[in-house]
Amino acid sequence: MNPKWWKECVVYQIYPISFMDSNGDGIGDLRGILSKLDYLQNLGVDVIWVCPIYKSPNHDNGYDISDYCDIMKEFGTMDDFDLLLREMHARGMKLMMDLVLNHTSHEHPWFVESRSSKDNPKRDYYIWRKGKNGGPPNNWESYFSGSVWEHDPQTDEYYLHLYSKYQPDLNWDNPVVIDKLHDMVQWWLKKGIDGFRFDAVAHLVKKEGYPDADNPGGTATVRAYDMFSNLDHVHTLLQNLYDKVLYFYDIMTVGETSGLGPEQALNYVGDGRRELNMTFQFEHMNLDAASPGSGRWDVVPWSLLELKRIITGWQTVLHNRGWNANYLCNHDQPRSVSRFGDDLYYRVPSAKMLATFVHMLEGTPYIYQGEELGMTNVAFESIDDYRDVETLNYYEEKRNQGVPEADIMKAIHLKSRDNARTPMQWDDSDQGGFTTGTPWIRVNANSQEINAANALKDPDSIFHYYKKLIELRKKHKVIVYGEYALHLEEHPEIYVYSRTLEEERLLVILNFFKGEPVFELPGEFVQEKLELLISNYAPVKGENLQELKLRPFEARVYLQRRK
Ligand code: GLC
Ligand code: CA
Repeated sequence: MNPKWWKECVVYQIYPISFMDSNGDGIGDLRGILSKLDYLQNLGVDVIWVCPIYKSPNHDNGYDISDYCDIMKEFGTMDDFDLLLREMHARGMKLMMDLVLNHTSHEHPWFVESRSSKDNPKRDYYIWRKGKNGGPPNNWESYFSGSVWEHDPQTDEYYLHLYSKYQPDLNWDNPVVIDKLHDMVQWWLKKGIDGFRFDAVAHLVKKEGYPDADNPGGTATVRAYDMFSNLDHVHTLLQNLYDKVLYFYDIMTVGETSGLGPEQALNYVGDGRRELNMTFQFEHMNLDAASPGSGRWDVVPWSLLELKRIITGWQTVLHNRGWNANYLCNHDQPRSVSRFGDDLYYRVPSAKMLATFVHMLEGTPYIYQGEELGMTNVAFESIDDYRDVETLNYYEEKRNQGVPEADIMKAIHLKSRDNARTPMQWDDSDQGGFTTGTPWIRVNANSQEINAANALKDPDSIFHYYKKLIELRKKHKVIVYGEYALHLEEHPEIYVYSRTLEEERLLVILNFFKGEPVFELPGEFVQEKLELLISNYAPVKGENLQELKLRPFEARVYLQRRK
């Protein structure tokens, strides 16, 4: 079963700008994180993934780095960072940095030099091309709307940016760039950090020659993800990074890789590939997308059968060959309870059910800040209350196309990344206890009810349920290493799976909806031998598992020992 510490841990993701503000400027910071380490330790998580904290002009909340070896001034200083790392280690926790290797900020000194003239020695650090027929070099569309190319009047050429124009893509064909990035990665590792989440790592390599993508609709730009996602040469680059740098440290790595299925993911995480430990896959995040290439905004209802099919694929293909990263939420996605549960009538049971789902799968579970409180989406009435560059660009593009305001706002309410970026709700005071000042983005109006102080007091809270899930993981190896099998495959409301490790077997029963479907115990389980490990409803005495009516969003996990 090839045991590793990063398989046994639970990761908690912090979005620093929204986590905790220590000095009243309305912006979360490193000292804020420091003040909440006891809270995290109480929850029981052992790895903390902190979203980018490097120096940045913050056009994309730190995913636009202007100095890889300095701290964003709003977040604090390098001394604060060193202290945070020490304090985490003192509590037995590990720190995973979020590193953006695909692009920098347009304010990074490399880019400032690069754009200054065509013969600047750093010109080739980025991707510059001449225009074509009075327009950009090709028709690729940026993730954040519009062309991936930005015209720069200074030299009358275009630079490529897969994300916003403030995030020029680095040129990974340039060995000097690669060396500098390797050195920088090493610099952080020498500080004693414990891992990396590599942002947008699937996109380091672009299709040679930058050809136009097929464009049957004749639109100005087209989503051409296959032109810059998961191309073969990415693996050579990652293997180099591994062999030259990562190999020498006992760390964990996870790559953000959209646009692939489990077989392809093995190219990144397969044992012996010498690349990454795990990747974030997006198949289940696209469940409610109108079509695979349609981006986030066109929403359709999702189906449980599809979710089962996708997750079962990842569970079975990676078993004994690679490792999964399991998540339902992060800083780029809506809140999981609003998206996959019911945040109105069944917020608490559905949040617990979703937690059970993620934590009982094979793979490392990731918790996004506030998920352990059942925090929900927001629906600000005015676009003025939104901050996310992707959301703002989308709004502007749709307004220009004449789409009615109400339709645009509806999509934003469902899918904006700001849903997950409102401040952490610590208590029922003003601004949810996040800041004593004015927060950079509004606090969700439900912070008086949904907050950490309430959750800590209530033994039946979502927080305490998470805590128990984490404790179970530390106690039962079958939760970490057991082999997954799907049961009741065609059931449209209930998701049942088992995990088997030698003599032990887990049975996970999840009612994904508010109906009360009847569950029938699969033949290979014996009611008398089942021990209930956790459930989001009180058990009923004398019930019959052979034919059990489940309650709305009910979740149960049983352990069966063969002996
Ligand atoms: C990743 C990040 C996202 C960011 C983008 C550009 O997708 O998760 O937040 O906007 O990369 O760096
Ligand atoms: Ca602050």
